Amino acid sequence: MISRRALLAASAGLGLARARAQPLDASLGADAQSAGLLFGASIGREAFDDPAYGDLYRREAAVVTTDVALKFDWLRPSPERFEFGPADAIFEFARAARKKVRGHTLIWNDNAPAWLKALSLREIERTFDAHIERVVERYAGRVHSWDVVNEPFWPMDGKPGGWRDGPWFAAMGPAYVERAFRRVAAIDPAAKLTLNEAQCDNDRDWGRQIRPLLAGLVDRLQQAGAPLQAVGLQSHLQPQWPADYAAFAAYAAGFGARGLEVYISEFDVNDQSFPDDVAVRDAAVAAVAGRFLREALAVPAVKMVVCWQLGDGYSWYRGIWRRAHPGAARNPRPLPFDDALREKPLRSALGQAFAMRRASFEKPGFALKNHAG
Ligand code: G3I
Repeated sequence: MISRRALLAASAGLGLARARAQPLDASLGADAQSAGLLFGASIGREAFDDPAYGDLYRREAAVVTTDVALKFDWLRPSPERFEFGPADAIFEFARAARKKVRGHTLIWNDNAPAWLKALSLREIERTFDAHIERVVERYAGRVHSWDVVNEPFWPMDGKPGGWRDGPWFAAMGPAYVERAFRRVAAIDPAAKLTLNEAQCDNDRDWGRQIRPLLAGLVDRLQQAGAPLQAVGLQSHLQPQWPADYAAFAAYAAGFGARGLEVYISEFDVNDQSFPDDVAVRDAAVAAVAGRFLREALAVPAVKMVVCWQLGDGYSWYRGIWRRAHPGAARNPRPLPFDDALREKPLRSALGQAFAMRRASFEKPGFALKNHAG
Protein backbone atom coordinates (compact mmCIF):
# COMPACT_ATOMS: atom_id res chain seq x y z
CA MET A 1 0.00 0.00 0.00
CA ILE A 2 1.37 3.43 -0.91
CA SER A 3 1.33 5.80 2.06
CA ARG A 4 -0.50 9.12 2.01
CA ARG A 5 2.75 10.92 2.81
CA ALA A 6 4.61 9.25 -0.08
CA LEU A 7 1.88 10.14 -2.55
CA LEU A 8 1.62 13.75 -1.46
CA ALA A 9 5.41 14.05 -1.52
CA ALA A 10 5.41 12.63 -5.04
CA SER A 11 2.87 15.16 -6.21
CA ALA A 12 4.73 18.03 -4.55
CA GLY A 13 7.89 16.80 -6.26
CA LEU A 14 6.13 17.11 -9.58
CA GLY A 15 5.26 20.71 -8.76
CA LEU A 16 1.60 19.78 -8.76
CA ALA A 17 0.66 21.46 -5.50
CA ARG A 18 2.04 24.78 -6.70
CA ALA A 19 0.44 24.44 -10.13
CA ARG A 20 -2.93 23.67 -8.55
CA ALA A 21 -2.88 26.89 -6.59
CA GLN A 22 -2.30 29.02 -9.65
CA PRO A 23 -4.97 30.21 -12.06
CA LEU A 24 -4.85 28.74 -15.52
CA ASP A 25 -3.09 30.94 -17.99
CA ALA A 26 -2.88 28.60 -20.94
CA SER A 27 -4.86 25.68 -22.25
CA LEU A 28 -3.71 22.10 -22.47
CA GLY A 29 -4.43 22.29 -26.18
CA ALA A 30 -2.03 25.22 -26.60
CA ASP A 31 0.59 23.61 -24.35
CA ALA A 32 0.40 20.40 -26.33
CA GLN A 33 0.59 22.20 -29.65
CA SER A 34 3.83 23.84 -28.63
CA ALA A 35 5.18 20.34 -28.01
CA GLY A 36 4.12 19.05 -31.43
CA LEU A 37 1.03 17.32 -30.07
CA LEU A 38 -2.71 17.52 -30.42
CA PHE A 39 -4.55 17.42 -27.11
CA GLY A 40 -8.25 16.85 -26.69
CA ALA A 41 -11.01 14.70 -25.29
CA SER A 42 -13.96 12.59 -26.27
CA ILE A 43 -17.18 14.53 -26.31
CA GLY A 44 -20.89 13.82 -26.10
CA ARG A 45 -24.18 15.54 -25.40
CA GLU A 46 -23.02 16.36 -21.86
CA ALA A 47 -20.96 19.18 -23.35
CA PHE A 48 -24.11 20.69 -24.86
CA ASP A 49 -26.43 20.05 -21.89
CA ASP A 50 -23.90 21.59 -19.47
CA PRO A 51 -22.66 24.90 -20.95
CA ALA A 52 -19.75 25.15 -18.50
CA TYR A 53 -18.60 21.75 -19.67
CA GLY A 54 -18.81 22.88 -23.29
CA ASP A 55 -16.72 25.91 -22.37
CA LEU A 56 -14.09 23.60 -20.86
CA TYR A 57 -13.74 21.86 -24.24
CA ARG A 58 -13.57 25.23 -25.99
CA ARG A 59 -10.74 26.27 -23.68
CA GLU A 60 -8.71 23.07 -23.29
CA ALA A 61 -9.19 20.86 -26.34
CA ALA A 62 -7.78 21.17 -29.84
CA VAL A 63 -9.41 17.93 -30.96
CA VAL A 64 -12.61 16.14 -29.95
CA THR A 65 -13.46 12.47 -30.42
CA THR A 66 -17.07 11.41 -30.87
CA ASP A 67 -17.71 9.37 -27.72
CA VAL A 68 -20.82 7.27 -28.42
CA ALA A 69 -22.46 9.32 -31.20
CA LEU A 70 -20.99 7.38 -34.14
CA LYS A 71 -21.07 3.93 -32.60
CA PHE A 72 -23.14 1.51 -34.62
CA ASP A 73 -25.70 0.78 -31.91
CA TRP A 74 -26.26 4.48 -31.18
CA LEU A 75 -26.38 5.49 -34.81
CA ARG A 76 -28.47 2.57 -36.07
CA PRO A 77 -31.39 1.80 -33.70
CA SER A 78 -33.06 -0.01 -36.61
CA PRO A 79 -31.92 -1.11 -40.09
CA GLU A 80 -33.40 1.91 -41.86
CA ARG A 81 -32.74 4.66 -39.32
CA PHE A 82 -29.52 6.65 -39.00
CA GLU A 83 -29.58 8.92 -35.94
CA PHE A 84 -27.08 11.47 -37.18
CA GLY A 85 -28.26 14.28 -34.87
CA PRO A 86 -25.78 13.72 -31.98
CA ALA A 87 -22.78 13.38 -34.29
CA ASP A 88 -23.90 16.35 -36.40
CA ALA A 89 -24.02 18.42 -33.20
CA ILE A 90 -20.42 17.48 -32.41
CA PHE A 91 -19.24 18.39 -35.91
CA GLU A 92 -21.07 21.72 -35.67
CA PHE A 93 -19.51 22.40 -32.26
CA ALA A 94 -16.09 21.59 -33.68
CA ARG A 95 -16.62 23.81 -36.72
CA ALA A 96 -17.73 26.78 -34.62
CA ALA A 97 -14.96 26.31 -32.04
CA ARG A 98 -12.31 25.40 -34.62
CA LYS A 99 -11.56 21.97 -33.22
CA LYS A 100 -10.46 18.92 -35.12
CA VAL A 101 -12.65 15.80 -34.96
CA ARG A 102 -11.73 12.15 -34.52
CA GLY A 103 -14.49 9.88 -35.82
CA HIS A 104 -14.97 6.97 -33.40
CA THR A 105 -15.68 4.33 -34.52
CA LEU A 106 -16.81 2.93 -37.84
CA ILE A 107 -16.32 -0.77 -37.25
CA TRP A 108 -16.32 -2.51 -33.87
CA ASN A 109 -17.52 -6.04 -33.22
CA ASP A 110 -18.63 -5.09 -29.71
CA ASN A 111 -21.56 -2.75 -30.14
CA ALA A 112 -23.89 -4.56 -32.47
CA PRO A 113 -27.65 -4.14 -32.03
CA ALA A 114 -29.87 -7.24 -32.02
CA TRP A 115 -31.21 -6.47 -35.50
CA LEU A 116 -27.69 -6.66 -36.97
CA LYS A 117 -26.91 -9.95 -35.28
CA ALA A 118 -30.13 -11.41 -36.68
CA LEU A 119 -29.10 -10.80 -40.32
CA SER A 120 -27.61 -13.46 -42.58
CA LEU A 121 -23.84 -13.37 -43.05
CA ARG A 122 -24.30 -12.06 -46.60
CA GLU A 123 -26.60 -9.28 -45.32
CA ILE A 124 -24.10 -8.38 -42.61
CA GLU A 125 -21.42 -7.98 -45.27
CA ARG A 126 -23.68 -5.71 -47.33
CA THR A 127 -24.56 -3.71 -44.21
CA PHE A 128 -20.85 -3.31 -43.46
CA ASP A 129 -20.12 -1.72 -46.85
CA ALA A 130 -23.25 0.42 -46.86
CA HIS A 131 -22.66 1.64 -43.29
CA ILE A 132 -19.12 2.79 -44.03
CA GLU A 133 -20.23 4.48 -47.23
CA ARG A 134 -23.14 6.36 -45.66
CA VAL A 135 -21.28 7.55 -42.56
CA VAL A 136 -17.96 8.42 -44.17
CA GLU A 137 -19.61 10.25 -47.08
CA ARG A 138 -21.55 12.43 -44.64
CA TYR A 139 -18.46 13.65 -42.77
CA ALA A 140 -15.72 13.28 -45.40
CA GLY A 141 -13.28 16.19 -45.45
CA ARG A 142 -14.19 17.20 -41.88
CA VAL A 143 -12.46 14.40 -40.02
CA HIS A 144 -8.90 14.56 -38.73
CA SER A 145 -8.79 10.81 -38.22
CA TRP A 146 -11.18 7.89 -38.33
CA ASP A 147 -10.99 5.02 -35.89
CA VAL A 148 -11.76 2.76 -38.82
CA VAL A 149 -11.61 -0.41 -36.74
CA ASN A 150 -11.80 -0.45 -32.95
CA GLU A 151 -10.40 -3.20 -30.73
CA PRO A 152 -9.92 -5.97 -33.30
CA PHE A 153 -8.49 -8.33 -30.67
CA TRP A 154 -10.09 -9.82 -27.58
CA PRO A 155 -8.41 -13.18 -26.90
CA MET A 156 -10.96 -13.86 -24.15
CA ASP A 157 -13.52 -14.51 -26.92
CA GLY A 158 -11.61 -17.72 -27.69
CA LYS A 159 -11.33 -17.21 -31.44
CA PRO A 160 -8.21 -18.46 -33.27
CA GLY A 161 -5.75 -15.59 -33.69
CA GLY A 162 -7.21 -13.77 -30.68
CA TRP A 163 -9.79 -11.94 -32.80
CA ARG A 164 -12.73 -10.23 -31.15
CA ASP A 165 -15.92 -12.03 -32.04
CA GLY A 166 -18.98 -10.27 -33.41
CA PRO A 167 -21.02 -9.90 -36.58
CA TRP A 168 -18.32 -8.38 -38.79
CA PHE A 169 -15.82 -11.07 -37.82
CA ALA A 170 -18.43 -13.82 -38.20
CA ALA A 171 -19.30 -12.67 -41.71
CA MET A 172 -15.87 -11.91 -43.13
CA GLY A 173 -13.25 -13.30 -40.76
CA PRO A 174 -10.05 -11.26 -40.31
CA ALA A 175 -10.45 -9.82 -43.84
CA TYR A 176 -13.01 -7.32 -42.51
CA VAL A 177 -10.19 -5.09 -41.25
CA GLU A 178 -8.43 -4.47 -44.56
CA ARG A 179 -11.78 -4.18 -46.32
CA ALA A 180 -12.83 -1.41 -43.95
CA PHE A 181 -9.61 0.56 -44.43
CA ARG A 182 -9.81 0.38 -48.21
CA ARG A 183 -13.44 1.49 -48.31
CA VAL A 184 -12.89 4.45 -46.01
CA ALA A 185 -9.82 5.59 -47.94
CA ALA A 186 -11.78 5.54 -51.18
CA ILE A 187 -14.32 8.01 -49.74
CA ASP A 188 -12.28 10.19 -47.36
CA PRO A 189 -8.66 10.13 -48.52
CA ALA A 190 -7.70 13.21 -46.45
CA ALA A 191 -8.42 11.62 -43.06
CA LYS A 192 -5.77 9.70 -41.17
CA LEU A 193 -7.02 6.16 -40.98
CA THR A 194 -6.46 4.64 -37.57
CA LEU A 195 -6.49 1.19 -36.04
CA ASN A 196 -7.53 1.68 -32.39
CA GLU A 197 -6.75 -0.89 -29.71
CA ALA A 198 -7.20 -1.35 -25.95
CA GLN A 199 -5.08 -2.83 -23.16
CA CYS A 200 -1.63 -2.39 -24.77
CA ASP A 201 -0.44 -0.30 -21.79
CA ASN A 202 -0.71 -3.05 -19.16
CA ASP A 203 1.24 -6.22 -18.47
CA ARG A 204 -1.72 -8.24 -17.37
CA ASP A 205 -2.22 -11.26 -19.66
CA TRP A 206 -4.64 -9.09 -21.73
CA GLY A 207 -1.98 -6.53 -22.60
CA ARG A 208 0.72 -9.14 -23.08
CA GLN A 209 -1.46 -11.06 -25.55
CA ILE A 210 -2.91 -8.13 -27.47
CA ARG A 211 0.34 -6.21 -28.11
CA PRO A 212 1.93 -8.77 -30.48
CA LEU A 213 -1.42 -9.49 -32.14
CA LEU A 214 -1.87 -5.81 -32.99
CA ALA A 215 1.71 -5.44 -34.25
CA GLY A 216 1.26 -8.52 -36.46
CA LEU A 217 -1.98 -7.13 -37.91
CA VAL A 218 -0.29 -3.80 -38.67
CA ASP A 219 2.52 -5.66 -40.47
CA ARG A 220 0.06 -7.65 -42.56
CA LEU A 221 -1.96 -4.56 -43.46
CA GLN A 222 1.19 -2.73 -44.52
CA GLN A 223 2.45 -5.70 -46.53
CA ALA A 224 -0.90 -5.73 -48.33
CA GLY A 225 -0.59 -2.01 -49.06
CA ALA A 226 -3.65 -1.12 -47.02
CA PRO A 227 -4.19 2.61 -46.33
CA LEU A 228 -3.27 2.79 -42.64
CA GLN A 229 -1.78 6.00 -41.22
CA ALA A 230 -2.01 5.67 -37.46
CA VAL A 231 -2.37 3.35 -34.51
CA GLY A 232 -4.50 4.43 -31.56
CA LEU A 233 -3.38 3.04 -28.21
CA GLN A 234 -6.31 3.79 -25.93
CA SER A 235 -4.38 3.98 -22.66
CA HIS A 236 -7.14 3.58 -20.12
CA LEU A 237 -4.42 3.16 -17.51
CA GLN A 238 -5.08 0.43 -14.94
CA PRO A 239 -2.51 0.93 -12.17
CA GLN A 240 -4.06 -1.94 -10.23
CA TRP A 241 -2.27 -4.22 -12.70
CA PRO A 242 1.44 -4.43 -13.52
CA ALA A 243 2.71 -2.16 -16.28
CA ASP A 244 6.05 -1.16 -17.77
CA TYR A 245 5.66 2.26 -19.37
CA ALA A 246 9.18 2.28 -20.83
CA ALA A 247 8.31 -0.96 -22.63
CA PHE A 248 5.03 0.62 -23.74
CA ALA A 249 6.97 3.55 -25.21
CA ALA A 250 9.27 1.16 -27.06
CA TYR A 251 6.20 -0.64 -28.39
CA ALA A 252 4.67 2.65 -29.57
CA ALA A 253 7.98 3.63 -31.18
CA GLY A 254 7.84 0.40 -33.17
CA PHE A 255 4.81 1.78 -35.00
CA GLY A 256 6.76 4.97 -35.67
CA ALA A 257 9.49 2.84 -37.23
CA ARG A 258 6.78 1.45 -39.53
CA GLY A 259 6.02 5.02 -40.69
CA LEU A 260 2.83 5.40 -38.64
CA GLU A 261 1.61 8.03 -36.22
CA VAL A 262 0.59 6.91 -32.74
CA TYR A 263 -2.29 8.41 -30.80
CA ILE A 264 -2.86 8.06 -27.07
CA SER A 265 -6.50 7.90 -27.95
CA GLU A 266 -8.62 7.33 -24.80
CA PHE A 267 -6.51 8.42 -21.86
CA ASP A 268 -7.72 8.20 -18.26
CA VAL A 269 -6.54 6.59 -15.02
CA ASN A 270 -8.50 3.95 -13.10
CA ASP A 271 -8.22 4.93 -9.42
CA GLN A 272 -9.87 1.85 -7.89
CA SER A 273 -6.72 0.66 -6.12
CA PHE A 274 -5.99 4.05 -4.53
CA PRO A 275 -7.18 5.24 -1.10
CA ASP A 276 -10.57 6.90 -0.52
CA ASP A 277 -9.01 10.20 0.53
CA VAL A 278 -9.56 12.49 -2.45
CA ALA A 279 -6.33 14.48 -2.18
CA VAL A 280 -4.28 11.30 -1.87
CA ARG A 281 -6.16 9.60 -4.69
CA ASP A 282 -5.86 12.59 -7.03
CA ALA A 283 -2.13 12.78 -6.32
CA ALA A 284 -1.73 9.07 -7.04
CA VAL A 285 -3.62 9.37 -10.34
CA ALA A 286 -1.42 12.31 -11.37
CA ALA A 287 1.74 10.45 -10.41
CA VAL A 288 0.81 7.42 -12.54
CA ALA A 289 -0.12 9.66 -15.45
CA GLY A 290 3.15 11.56 -15.12
CA ARG A 291 5.18 8.35 -15.25
CA PHE A 292 3.25 7.11 -18.27
CA LEU A 293 3.33 10.38 -20.19
CA ARG A 294 7.04 10.99 -19.58
CA GLU A 295 7.78 7.73 -21.39
CA ALA A 296 5.08 7.88 -24.05
CA LEU A 297 5.63 11.51 -25.06
CA ALA A 298 9.36 10.93 -25.53
CA VAL A 299 8.40 8.94 -28.62
CA PRO A 300 8.40 11.21 -31.69
CA ALA A 301 5.69 9.17 -33.43
CA VAL A 302 3.23 9.97 -30.63
CA LYS A 303 1.31 12.93 -32.00
CA MET A 304 -1.82 13.13 -29.90
CA VAL A 305 -3.23 12.71 -26.40
CA VAL A 306 -7.00 12.43 -26.11
CA CYS A 307 -8.66 12.02 -22.71
CA TRP A 308 -11.83 9.96 -22.50
CA GLN A 309 -14.01 12.96 -21.50
CA LEU A 310 -12.56 15.86 -19.45
CA GLY A 311 -14.50 15.86 -16.17
CA ASP A 312 -14.81 13.03 -13.63
CA GLY A 313 -18.58 13.40 -13.52
CA TYR A 314 -18.82 12.35 -17.16
CA SER A 315 -16.38 9.44 -17.13
CA TRP A 316 -17.52 6.04 -18.38
CA TYR A 317 -16.23 4.64 -15.09
CA ARG A 318 -19.00 6.40 -13.17
CA GLY A 319 -21.83 4.25 -14.58
CA ILE A 320 -19.90 1.04 -14.03
CA TRP A 321 -18.99 2.05 -10.47
CA ARG A 322 -22.52 3.09 -9.50
CA ARG A 323 -23.94 -0.19 -10.76
CA ALA A 324 -21.34 -2.15 -8.79
CA HIS A 325 -21.46 0.02 -5.63
CA PRO A 326 -24.95 1.54 -5.35
CA GLY A 327 -25.08 4.33 -2.77
CA ALA A 328 -21.30 4.46 -2.27
CA ALA A 329 -19.90 7.82 -1.17
CA ARG A 330 -16.77 7.23 -3.23
CA ASN A 331 -16.77 7.82 -6.98
CA PRO A 332 -14.09 7.27 -9.64
CA ARG A 333 -11.90 10.32 -10.34
CA PRO A 334 -10.00 9.34 -13.52
CA LEU A 335 -9.88 12.66 -15.40
CA PRO A 336 -8.14 16.09 -15.26
CA PHE A 337 -11.19 18.00 -13.93
CA ASP A 338 -13.48 17.20 -11.00
CA ASP A 339 -17.26 17.14 -10.77
CA ALA A 340 -17.36 20.93 -10.41
CA LEU A 341 -14.99 21.19 -13.41
CA ARG A 342 -12.13 22.42 -11.21
CA GLU A 343 -8.70 21.40 -12.35
CA LYS A 344 -7.05 18.47 -10.59
CA PRO A 345 -3.42 17.39 -10.22
CA LEU A 346 -3.90 15.27 -13.34
CA ARG A 347 -4.30 18.44 -15.37
CA SER A 348 -0.97 19.67 -14.02
CA ALA A 349 0.64 16.33 -14.83
CA LEU A 350 -0.55 16.63 -18.43
CA GLY A 351 0.72 20.20 -18.68
CA GLN A 352 4.08 19.22 -17.21
CA ALA A 353 4.43 16.29 -19.59
CA PHE A 354 3.73 18.60 -22.54
CA ALA A 355 6.29 21.09 -21.20
CA MET A 356 8.90 18.33 -20.90
CA ARG A 357 8.31 17.27 -24.48
CA ARG A 358 8.57 20.90 -25.63
CA ALA A 359 11.83 21.27 -23.72
CA SER A 360 13.17 18.23 -25.50
CA PHE A 361 12.63 20.07 -28.80
CA GLU A 362 14.22 23.26 -27.54
CA LYS A 363 17.28 22.13 -25.60
CA PRO A 364 20.24 20.89 -27.61
CA GLY A 365 21.51 17.59 -26.25
CA PHE A 366 18.10 16.76 -24.77
CA ALA A 367 16.66 15.11 -27.84
CA LEU A 368 13.53 13.00 -27.85
CA LYS A 369 14.38 9.37 -27.26
CA ASN A 370 14.42 7.74 -30.63
CA HIS A 371 13.17 4.31 -29.66
CA ALA A 372 12.48 3.78 -33.35
CA GLY A 373 16.15 4.20 -34.21
O1 G3I B 1 -27.45 7.19 -21.78
C1 G3I B 1 -27.95 5.97 -21.20
C2 G3I B 1 -28.87 6.30 -20.09
O2 G3I B 1 -30.01 6.98 -20.60
C3 G3I B 1 -29.27 5.01 -19.38
O3 G3I B 1 -30.05 5.31 -18.26
C4 G3I B 1 -28.05 4.24 -18.93
C5 G3I B 1 -28.40 2.89 -18.32
O4 G3I B 1 -27.28 2.03 -18.27
O5 G3I B 1 -27.25 3.99 -20.05
C6 G3I B 1 -26.79 5.17 -20.68
O6 G3I B 1 -26.01 4.78 -21.74
C7 G3I B 1 -24.73 4.33 -21.45
C8 G3I B 1 -23.76 5.22 -22.22
O7 G3I B 1 -22.47 4.71 -22.16
C9 G3I B 1 -23.77 6.66 -21.71
O8 G3I B 1 -22.89 7.45 -22.43
C10 G3I B 1 -24.61 2.88 -21.88
O9 G3I B 1 -25.38 2.05 -21.01
C11 G3I B 1 -23.18 2.43 -21.85
O10 G3I B 1 -23.07 1.12 -22.39
C12 G3I B 1 -22.33 3.40 -22.69
O11 G3I B 1 -21.01 2.99 -22.55
C13 G3I B 1 -20.09 3.50 -23.49
C14 G3I B 1 -19.17 2.33 -23.86
O12 G3I B 1 -18.07 2.78 -24.63
C15 G3I B 1 -19.90 1.27 -24.68
O13 G3I B 1 -20.29 1.76 -25.94
C16 G3I B 1 -19.30 4.64 -22.85
O14 G3I B 1 -20.13 5.78 -22.70
C17 G3I B 1 -18.13 5.00 -23.75
O15 G3I B 1 -17.36 6.02 -23.15
C18 G3I B 1 -17.29 3.75 -23.97
O16 G3I B 1 -16.16 4.06 -24.75
C19 G3I B 1 -15.28 2.99 -25.02
C20 G3I B 1 -14.68 3.22 -26.38
O17 G3I B 1 -15.69 3.36 -27.34
C21 G3I B 1 -13.73 2.10 -26.77
N1 G3I B 1 -12.71 1.90 -25.76
C22 G3I B 1 -13.21 1.73 -24.40
C23 G3I B 1 -14.11 2.90 -24.01
C24 G3I B 1 -14.55 2.80 -22.57
O18 G3I B 1 -15.37 1.67 -22.36
